[in-house]
Amino acid sequence: MITEKVKISNPDNLTEADGEILKKAGEIIKNGGVVAFPTETVYGLGGNALDAGASKKIYAAKGRPSDNPLIVHISDFGDIYEIAEAVPEYAKRLAEIFWPGPLTMILKKKAKVPDETTGGLDTVAVRMPDSIIARNLIKYAGGYIAAPSANISGKPSPTEARFVTEDMDGRIDMIIDGGAGEVGIESTIIDLTVSPPEILRPGFITREMIEGALKTETRLPGAEADPGTGPRAPGMKYRHYAPRAPLYVVEAADKDTPGLIARLVQKEHEKGRRAGVLATEGNAGGYIAEKVENLGRADDGRAIARNLFRALREMDDADVDVIYAESLENKGVGTAVMNRLLKAAGNQIIT
Ligand code: TXA
Ligand code: MG
Repeated sequence: MITEKVKISNPDNLTEADGEILKKAGEIIKNGGVVAFPTETVYGLGGNALDAGASKKIYAAKGRPSDNPLIVHISDFGDIYEIAEAVPEYAKRLAEIFWPGPLTMILKKKAKVPDETTGGLDTVAVRMPDSIIARNLIKYAGGYIAAPSANISGKPSPTEARFVTEDMDGRIDMIIDGGAGEVGIESTIIDLTVSPPEILRPGFITREMIEGALKTETRLPGAEADPGTGPRAPGMKYRHYAPRAPLYVVEAADKDTPGLIARLVQKEHEKGRRAGVLATEGNAGGYIAEKVENLGRADDGRAIARNLFRALREMDDADVDVIYAESLENKGVGTAVMNRLLKAAGNQIIT
């Protein structure tokens, strides 16, 4: 298949020509095709959420197991009633405060959402993205776009169109280049079908922000979850975000993480291996390695979130044999960043 590549000239204030591009892309989706498009988090691989055949095409393009459900993207709050059986007060409050934005809510689904879209679950994940490109595309496509991140299953989520092209060229109908998103990591996912609400995936909208908005406690999956129920966001059980080279998160017991990473890199060099380092701002200049990526200031979780997936992809391009990453502050957006980094590392930590 030939993948058409188009570029939005003015992502913040769409021109007429941009509108025409999105109309055409919307038609492709209406006709059962698959289009990669930008959002404020990461690029999505979009198809008509109400069309079982389109969802099958998305799974095939991603190489993703079909028990891993897709997020349905909407552009008007009212449309939620078409796909969700019940819309609890909590959902309304969260939408009022955080939509459009990087928050996904799990709700009981209506029958018209096909099992292919929800991986056979009786719930549906719904999100209204902030990206103007995404919301216009959703409108032109008929209102409901099912979209996972636009990477081949297991690879880092794409934050720029060039990374989508790396993975999806020849596999889908169209790639829309709309620049890099502001957020850089995927949406926070909250399950509102359980009580208290459960945060299935941490993100830019933090647990503290959600608890403040709902004036109630939330819980996290894992230790606190009901035993024996398995992973509640099916996608969270798969290997994720992995660059080609093995990745280790480093957190020195004596707090001198840069010193420990320098010794680890030195050992790699003695073996004739190429090393990459994911570093924070103050330390990046001090490393001697084949590739050093400066993720941003250690106390600026938002900057690090914006840079992380690009940095992981660039490690692939630099063809390093091993990657060492500084452990990051586990608070605010940093919690979501550490969640992605540890998944990318397959939980390999050096202390
Ligand atoms: O920011 C984002 O959420 C991006 C952009 C494109 O919107 N999308 C995204 O989709 O990250 P994906 O498919 O890569 O991740 C969706 C996650 C998966 O872990 C999946 O298992 C979970 O959401 N999920 C989807 N529907 C679910 C449901 N009904 N119940 C529980 N988890 C669900
Ligand atoms: Mg994904």
